[in-house]
Amino acid sequence: MIKNLKFHHIGYAVNDINATASFYTNAGWTLSQIYNDKIQNAKIAFLKREGFPLVELVAAVDEKSPVVNILKKNGVSPYHICYEVEVMDEAIWQMKQQHFIPLFKPVEAVALQNRKICYLYNKEVGLIEFLEKK
Ligand code: NI
Repeated sequence: MIKNLKFHHIGYAVNDINATASFYTNAGWTLSQIYNDKIQNAKIAFLKREGFPLVELVAAVDEKSPVVNILKKNGVSPYHICYEVEVMDEAIWQMKQQHFIPLFKPVEAVALQNRKICYLYNKEVGLIEFLEKK
């Protein structure tokens, strides 16, 4: 990992955003609008509550969506932690030195004000998402 990170959200793979969200909204969380992210081929929404970590709900659009395999293997489950980074390319370079593999070139995330994101994987750490500060 690298020192200059700020926690942003926990990402949950879900079958149905509204079905999962209803358990949280009952207890005071607020559900954002549901975004259709065509680049990530996923439906994405955020659960917010003052004083709690931000939770991202990610659902499949079709069989090719990246969360399909996670849901098949683990069911509904948290699967990534997202951190904000100052400069995406620099952060990725530092993570590569620690044997993290970027899953794709940074892309804009419609659910996050089109800020750049990238996923990185290491078999001892799992999936980490980086979100570039704006
Ligand atoms: Ni995320």
